[in-house]
Amino acid sequence: MSIGIGVIGAGVMGGDHARTIATAVGGAHLAAIADADQARAAAVASACGGVAVHGDGATLIADPAVDAVLVASPDATHAELVLACLAAGKPVLCEKPLAATAAEAEAILQAETQGGRRRVQVGFMRRFDPAYAAMRARFAAGEIGAAVLLHCLHHNASAPPWFDSAMVISNAAVHEIDVARWLLGQEVTSVSVFAPGDGGAAMRDRLLLVLRMSGGAVVDVGVFVNAGYGYDVRAELVGERGTLTRAPADPVVLRAGGRQGGDFAPDWRAHFAAAYQLQLQAWVRAIRTGEQTGASAWDGYAANLVAAAGIRALHANRPEPVTLPPRPALYR
Ligand SMILES: NC(=O)c1ccc[n+]([C@@H]2O[C@H](COP(=O)([O-])OP(=O)(O)OC[C@H]3O[C@@H](n4cnc5c(N)ncnc54)[C@H](O)[C@@H]3O)[C@@H](O)[C@H]2O)c1
Repeated sequence: MSIGIGVIGAGVMGGDHARTIATAVGGAHLAAIADADQARAAAVASACGGVAVHGDGATLIADPAVDAVLVASPDATHAELVLACLAAGKPVLCEKPLAATAAEAEAILQAETQGGRRRVQVGFMRRFDPAYAAMRARFAAGEIGAAVLLHCLHHNASAPPWFDSAMVISNAAVHEIDVARWLLGQEVTSVSVFAPGDGGAAMRDRLLLVLRMSGGAVVDVGVFVNAGYGYDVRAELVGERGTLTRAPADPVVLRAGGRQGGDFAPDWRAHFAAAYQLQLQAWVRAIRTGEQTGASAWDGYAANLVAAAGIRALHANRPEPVTLPPRPALYR
């Protein structure tokens, strides 16, 4: 039986996910789409072959044609919608971050733990990106020895006008926080944040985060969310015997006019298209088998906790410790 997926949020990500589900995911179909702006939901629904449209998330979650839910509405709405999915016993793939605050993420952990079954996956899609996955596999195979440093770079062409300094960490750098935990298999123990050259500006859109990891590795993350030139994500893992670098996304090198180079994608959708599709396919497989391969609610909670420490570190201008509670049995 094909799994009916309902998508909440018909904006940039929800629209993209809806189209991918409708055209490129086996064993599932798009069953419904909801948005507070019903006209936007209707436009995406009609572009995807005319599925049911709802004006709010609660109605979509209650729709009997919806077997599983993808949450792609703004960060502040995530926790309430994920908790409603858990209450309805429906699997949910929630876009990152899992919640707007660590306290909300903790409430999700508690609800899922009480249910005794993992039903929540978090949309840290880089875990499914073929290049990151290959880096992780080669690191795990011992090709560079123990991890010493991880250099990450996250540049966006531009940030929406409502973005603020905290979101540079909680919404953008949160991807790198998850990459660091997942790639290295270590937890973050402290965060420092530097905002050079911003002269006290309200919006600190160029940050350097330094994460100390439980196994001794150090991770630096450069974030620049209004970089202008395109979407640019890089990673280099330095080990005791060598390095593993994520290759540039454009597989074609242009050489002309005395110069050589490649193109940047305008945003994450083109850059990580394969990762989003593979993430959705793996989620559908996990719903069938019960074996989750993507980021769990625990991973979402850990990322929220680190991001919260990062925001405190930015404001206090000093390193902030991160203390994760013991991992509940459900997530071991
Ligand atoms: N994984 C990634 O790479 C990635 C990239 C971008 C955004 N995101 C995440 O995806 C989510 C959505 O981001 P976006 O860029 O698509 O935003 P967006 O503003 O383009 O779309 C959000 C949509 O949600 C709707 N909405 C608002 N409140 C709602 C509610 N209570 N119920 C139903 N619909 C509601 C809005 O009308 C809008 O259409 C965010 O949490 C963001 O962090 C993830």
